[in-house]
Amino acid sequence: MSGSYVKAARADEVPDGGRLVVEVDERLIVLFRIDGKFYAIDDICTHDDGPLSEGELHQFAVACPRHGAKFDVRDGRALTMPATRATGAYECMVEGGDVLIAIGAASSAAETSTAAPVGQVVSAAPTVHQPGQEPAAASANIATSPTGGVAVADASATAATATTDALSEDSIREALKQVIDPELFVNIVDLGLIYGVTLHEEAVGKAKIAIDMTMTSPACPAGPQLIQNSKDVVGRLPGVDGVEVKLVMIPPWTPDRMTEAARDQLGIF
Ligand code: FES
Repeated sequence: MSGSYVKAARADEVPDGGRLVVEVDERLIVLFRIDGKFYAIDDICTHDDGPLSEGELHQFAVACPRHGAKFDVRDGRALTMPATRATGAYECMVEGGDVLIAIGAASSAAETSTAAPVGQVVSAAPTVHQPGQEPAAASANIATSPTGGVAVADASATAATATTDALSEDSIREALKQVIDPELFVNIVDLGLIYGVTLHEEAVGKAKIAIDMTMTSPACPAGPQLIQNSKDVVGRLPGVDGVEVKLVMIPPWTPDRMTEAARDQLGIF
């Protein structure tokens, strides 16, 4: 794919090992300079729009500051979950002390990336932004949902186990491991989405359950299903006489809430 080369910045604006956000053609693009070479990718994480310009860089991998997905700055490839799609990447060249990027030639790992021929230099007035200025345990029940919906892992097996336990916070958390995040394929307990479980005993052997749950992002489209599935699996436990799930967004979820098993599964270290 090829396109016109556009001036993105002066080369000396980006120190080696540094980065710079520029706005070109109404896109926010982050320029990285690594060992003297420039790389340009969209400043947007494909998981949920996190600003990649604010992420930590290790060699050629930048980690999204929101949920930790890593992208290769050389081609925009998504290296780790929760991102599954590449972000846009652009050919770069330096000419006359300017960094030029082949806008209109965004490539991604999904496409065959070929060197774009040098075209005319247009619009030499990009807007420059500083980064940040802008805009299991033992069993991380892993399952995929062929329909794309929220998966519930092996519900009958876990429910059967739960019937042998007294109702407790632990048995409820164990039951909640049946609910799988459909984007990350990790259960919601190991993801750290369960902030609290409270049992309100109403009578001997009967309790109402209150669960505080968060989401990995406020706009998580699977939220309603995760809540409903949580109610379903806990509601099936013996002695449960009602389940209330409250969505809590403060404090916001961060990757450090995940168990080691979930982090291993997602390739986040
Ligand atoms: S927004 Fe980047 S990993 Fe979620």
